[in-house]
Amino acid sequence: MAVIRSVIRGVGAYLPKRIMTNADLAKIVDTSDEWIVERSGIRERHIAADDELTSTLGIAASHQALVRAGIDPVDIDLVVCATATPDRTFPSTAVRIQSGLGITKGAAFDVQAVCSGFVYALAVADNFIKTGQSSRALVVGAETFSRILDWTDRATCVLFGDGAGAVVLEAQPQHGARDDRGVLTTLIRSDGRFEDLLYVDGGPGSTKTVGHLRMNGREVFRHAVQKISGVIEEALVASGYTADEIDLFIPHQANIRILDGIAKKLGIEQDKIVKTLEKHGNTSAASIPLALNQAFEEHRVREGSLVLMEAMGGGFTWGAALARW
Ligand code: UT7
Repeated sequence: MAVIRSVIRGVGAYLPKRIMTNADLAKIVDTSDEWIVERSGIRERHIAADDELTSTLGIAASHQALVRAGIDPVDIDLVVCATATPDRTFPSTAVRIQSGLGITKGAAFDVQAVCSGFVYALAVADNFIKTGQSSRALVVGAETFSRILDWTDRATCVLFGDGAGAVVLEAQPQHGARDDRGVLTTLIRSDGRFEDLLYVDGGPGSTKTVGHLRMNGREVFRHAVQKISGVIEEALVASGYTADEIDLFIPHQANIRILDGIAKKLGIEQDKIVKTLEKHGNTSAASIPLALNQAFEEHRVREGSLVLMEAMGGGFTWGAALARW
């Protein structure tokens, strides 16, 4: 039976030029390269320049994805931007990306699910495409977390970085079969009871300030492996695949111990995992498209590759997506 699927036509990314190493951080907080590498796997992260906003990063990543897709921006009819660090409270960063690329038709809006944002945005765009409301969508994950970090809190400021990634989705008829190309399954979950474990202590409607990121890392860690493995297992069952059929595992990059733990639990081999956190840190909603971009540039993803993506973040929110390149 013919079905419409969201086929990934292009991927792109952008990282700010400035690199901050663990040694640089050790000059401003009581930490060490050894602690950060051992506990998280992170060695360095990129930090946006003062004149680089989340939309600046998102536009650069989107531009690269569109060029690689061979699609003219005017043919995009949906822009979904996943971000927790918008340029302004409103309008959405998505409309700024839309106008920056010269797109004038369709709709553009942000999705706020923090580190799970890209999986959420992909799920939203895929559903717009499958229901025939959009034909070509730009899904962006863009963040400037450096702007919401408390640079005196060593437990959080060493973990995050700035960056953006984007994919172009196109509605294409497929057979409705196992070997279809495109997004095959998305599953998104949330549970607001865990809000106090990972949040920003400000906002326009409460403190009228931007606020800073606060996290109980140990508790978040405890939930992460269990919640992410659970939703991946559900996604595999829903799509009729087993973990050993996955060609490439693109996890959200929060902690090397979390992503290795999930892979081990599911039986996914090390050489199938794409890891960027050593060089990027945790870039929240940008981490999955940045990792997809790295896999593309390293020729690790090719037509027909079965790709598994997953993330968990503040809320809690979490989710998984399965797509065939
Ligand atoms: O993307 C959204 C989801 N986020 C995550 O998934 C993050 C999940 N959590 C984690 O990745 C880990 O919990 C961390 C990397 C944040 C922390 O690792 P941990 O093994 O859970 O360490 P901890 O928080 O239990 O801290 C251990 C010790 C503490 O000292 P005491 O209390 O044992 O004396 C901390 O004060 O390490 C200390 N510590 C540090 N020491 C040096 C905390 N941060 C630092 C630091 N440098 N930067």
